[in-house]
Amino acid sequence: MICSAAPAKVILFGEHFVVKDKPAIVTAVNLYAKTCITELESEKHLLISKQLRLETDIDKDRVPEQLAQFKHIYEIINDKYGITRGFKAFIDSDIPVSSGMGSSAATAVSFTYSLLRFLGVEFELEDINNIAYEAEKLVHGKPSGIDNTVSTYGGIIYYKRGYMEKLNVKWPQNLSLVVVDSGIKRNTGKVVMDVLERYERHKEIMKHIYDAAEQLVNKARNLILSGRFYDLGELISINQGLLESIGVSIYETDKIIYAMIENGALGAKISGAGRGGIVYGLFMENNLNKAIHKLKNIGYKPIIVKPVEKGVIELQDSL
Ligand code: MEV
Repeated sequence: MICSAAPAKVILFGEHFVVKDKPAIVTAVNLYAKTCITELESEKHLLISKQLRLETDIDKDRVPEQLAQFKHIYEIINDKYGITRGFKAFIDSDIPVSSGMGSSAATAVSFTYSLLRFLGVEFELEDINNIAYEAEKLVHGKPSGIDNTVSTYGGIIYYKRGYMEKLNVKWPQNLSLVVVDSGIKRNTGKVVMDVLERYERHKEIMKHIYDAAEQLVNKARNLILSGRFYDLGELISINQGLLESIGVSIYETDKIIYAMIENGALGAKISGAGRGGIVYGLFMENNLNKAIHKLKNIGYKPIIVKPVEKGVIELQDSL
């Protein structure tokens, strides 16, 4: 049995602007999608998703829509390497679905890794990243590639289409990232298309907003590289203002952002596509309890996540 795990992500700065070739900063965090693959006597290629409670034979013409990305990956790998052995793949994930934490990319990365290892072919992380990107295109339409990249390579990454730089820094012990899922699911591809259309309608204004986002991300990169994590708060709030102006901020996520800010966050913003999904706040450890208490009181389930250095990894034991 071959098992692997790939991490979720939190986009710290620059989502959406990255779709139009501006930079963004993203970190891998300690929630994982996992895939275990075992051999079958028969020629079948079975896929079981524990999280989605779905099971399918991916050779069949019609697979459930939520599993279409795995069929796509299977076909790409079959074309390139030839899949001659039957298998059963179990997919499981701690990552909330359709919420902005890169669930689809992490499952794609983990499935790809486990399948290539199962086949015993030689590959590089770059191959995993490229195949997972193809799956992301199927799910999200015009993805920037940031989600599959961070899930493959891990760490804190400064990303631009065609360029990635792992920021070689240690996340401070006394600094926490708190993530709250608004519970509002949305389709990333649709939100991305809406933002691109707004851009086209107001190009002369939007280009300044996109340029401001680029400057903001570059400033954040410099602060991170010089260890000034505690000074990121204002930039997080300015980034939230830019997201508001491109139309991805809604009342439900604003409520969470203000609850975080009023209870000690250095900064808080939407992360990912927005229009629901998750919000993250940056907190000093000693300010955490008050905010967690408040967020729970108003009905949310805050989770504290930690940046992780590693991307996809092979697991020794099964799921
Ligand atoms: C989605 O996680 C982030 C977006 O910027 C889309 C993308 O980069 O593909 C909204």
